[in-house]
Amino acid sequence: NVPSEAIYRFPLELVHGIPLMKPIINRWQEVEQFQARPDDLLIATYPKAGTTWMQEIVDLILQDGDLEKAMRAPSHIRFPFMEFVTPTLPSGVEVLTKMPSPRLIKTHLPYQLVPTSFWNQNCKVIYVARNAKDNAVSFYWFDKMNKAQPDPGTWESYVEAFLQGKVGWGSWFDHVIGWWEAKDKHRILYMLYEDIKEDPKREILKVMRFLGKELSEEVLEKVVHHTSFQAMKENPMTNYSTVPSFMFDRATSMFMRKGEVGDWVNHFTDSQSKAYDKVYNEKMRGTGLKFRSLI
Ligand code: A3P
Repeated sequence: NVPSEAIYRFPLELVHGIPLMKPIINRWQEVEQFQARPDDLLIATYPKAGTTWMQEIVDLILQDGDLEKAMRAPSHIRFPFMEFVTPTLPSGVEVLTKMPSPRLIKTHLPYQLVPTSFWNQNCKVIYVARNAKDNAVSFYWFDKMNKAQPDPGTWESYVEAFLQGKVGWGSWFDHVIGWWEAKDKHRILYMLYEDIKEDPKREILKVMRFLGKELSEEVLEKVVHHTSFQAMKENPMTNYSTVPSFMFDRATSMFMRKGEVGDWVNHFTDSQSKAYDKVYNEKMRGTGLKFRSLI
C-alpha cells in the first residue's frame, strides 16, 4: 500500500549526463554494483519502445507457448525492472538479488550505463528500438497517465524536450545508436518494433533462435497469437491493470494504448516532423542504423 503522494511526479536529475528520476539517482550505486549472472537475460529498450511486448514474446517462448505458465504473474514481477526505485517498495536491485536464476531482467538504461557485470558475464541481451516519432507519442501519453513520471507538459513542449533528450533515460537518438554500436561487441539481439509489427512470426523466430529454443509450428503460432496487441490488451498479466489507479490514471490513457506504427501523424505538426527528420538525418548518418518509412 503505497501512499499516493509518495509516488507523485518525481523530478529528473542527471547521472553521468543522463536524466533519470531522483529516487533512482539517490540509489545509483546499487545499480552500478549490480552483480549479473551468466544466465541472466536482459531486455533493454528506450521507454515505450515495446518492452512489455518483447517480455511476453520471450516468456512464451521459454514456456513453450503455455499461456497459463506465462500468466503466473504480471510482467513487472516476471521481469523485474533493474533500476526501478520508488519509496516504500523494494528496489529493482533488491528484488533481483533475491531472485533465483535464471533471471529475466528489464532495463531502460542507455548502453554506457548498464552495469559492467553484464558484459563480464557475457549475458544475452535483447534490445528493442522503435521509430522516434511513435516512441515520443507513446512516451508522452505514458508520462501523462503515470503519476510517478515527470509531468510532460503540453505536446508542443514535450516534442522539444524529447528531441533534446531532456526526458527520462535521455536522448532517444543516443540510446538507439549506443546500443546499435554495442551490438557486435556482445551477445545482443537488436530488434525493431516495426519489424515485429510487420511480420511477428518472422521476428519471433529470430528471438527463439537467439534464446537457443526450438519450437514446433503449432507452438510458434500460439506465441504469435498470445502476443498480439489485442490478446495482450485483454490479458491482466500484461496490460498493467494490477497497478493502482492513483499511479496509472486510466482516464487519461491506457498502458496498452494503440500499439500501432505511424500514430505520430495524429500528433506531429508538419514543422515538428521536419525538425525531427533533420536531427534524425544528422544523427543516423554513417551509423548503418535505419528505421523504416515512418508512415
Ligand atoms: P502505444 O502507446 O503506441 O500504444 P513499453 O512496453 O516499452 O512501455 O511500450 C509500450 C508501447 O508498446 C505502447 O505503445 C503499447 O501499446 C505497445 N505494445 C505493447 N504490447 C504490444 C503488442 N503486443 N503489439 C503492439 N504494440 C504493443
